[in-house]
Amino acid sequence: MDDMLIRTTTHNDVDELLKLQDRVYPAIDPWHRDHLAHQLAIFPEGQLLAEIDGRIVGCASSLVILWDEWADEHTWQEITAKGTFSTHNTQGRTLYGAEVFVDPEMRGRQIGHGLYQGRRQLCQSLNLRRIIACGRLPGYHKYAPDLTAEQYAKKVIWGDLTDPVLSFQLREDFRYCGIMKDYLPEDRESCGQASLIVWINPDHDPSRPTVLQSAAPLQPQGTP
Ligand SMILES: CC(C)(COP(=O)(O)OP(=O)(O)OC[C@H]1O[C@@H](n2cnc3c(N)ncnc32)[C@H](O)[C@@H]1OP(=O)(O)O)[C@@H](O)C(=O)NCCC(=O)NCCS
Repeated sequence: MDDMLIRTTTHNDVDELLKLQDRVYPAIDPWHRDHLAHQLAIFPEGQLLAEIDGRIVGCASSLVILWDEWADEHTWQEITAKGTFSTHNTQGRTLYGAEVFVDPEMRGRQIGHGLYQGRRQLCQSLNLRRIIACGRLPGYHKYAPDLTAEQYAKKVIWGDLTDPVLSFQLREDFRYCGIMKDYLPEDRESCGQASLIVWINPDHDPSRPTVLQSAAPLQPQGTP
């Protein structure tokens, strides 16, 4: 979309962003204002917005983690430290997608694609190895009486079913890695479950430190 701008979030965007989030997830508690401020303080380049004609139409927020600490089952609350991103770790090589959403009235116009493109560019510019996320499965509740979440996800991958989020993520070159149970229990459409997905940065150079590691060389927080 020609008139779309992908840019980093600022403190001035917080009010509008919270209103948009409320429209996207009327049944899920929105972020706390101070959590957003903390996200911006801790990892400003990871907080992206899509803007059209001066209006916020989408957002993608991320943090960096040591994936080995989180590869077993975890919840959204745990990996994001309840949305504060205090789990952000500059020694990590994994960009973790904590949230992405687009204005419900603006879907299907490549805004999600633009935000994912922005995330991939961020991953590459920081020399991170990959992007990992746990995606919602909002179409699952319709099939939950008959299918496990794993069976549902496989049918989406095989092309028998379409999920509003997983189908989009597969088209964005993410690979499905399995189900995270009880990831977001309040997400009733997904029956609390999520699909673990990964995108591998083809340009990652493991022999070089990441940009964040170079900027903070004195923080021995574990192996990347
Ligand atoms: C997932 C989401 C971010 C995608 O955003 P989007 O701006 O609609 O995505 P795009 O337009 O880039 O691409 C969507 C693709 O699905 C199709 N699509 C998605 N929603 C559509 C809709 N409502 N109408 C028509 N097509 C749609 C598009 O045609 C496009 O397919 P294509 O790439 O083959 O052309 C958006 O649906 C959303 O905000 N969902 C609710 C929040 C959510 O659950 N986020 C995920 C958290 S894990």
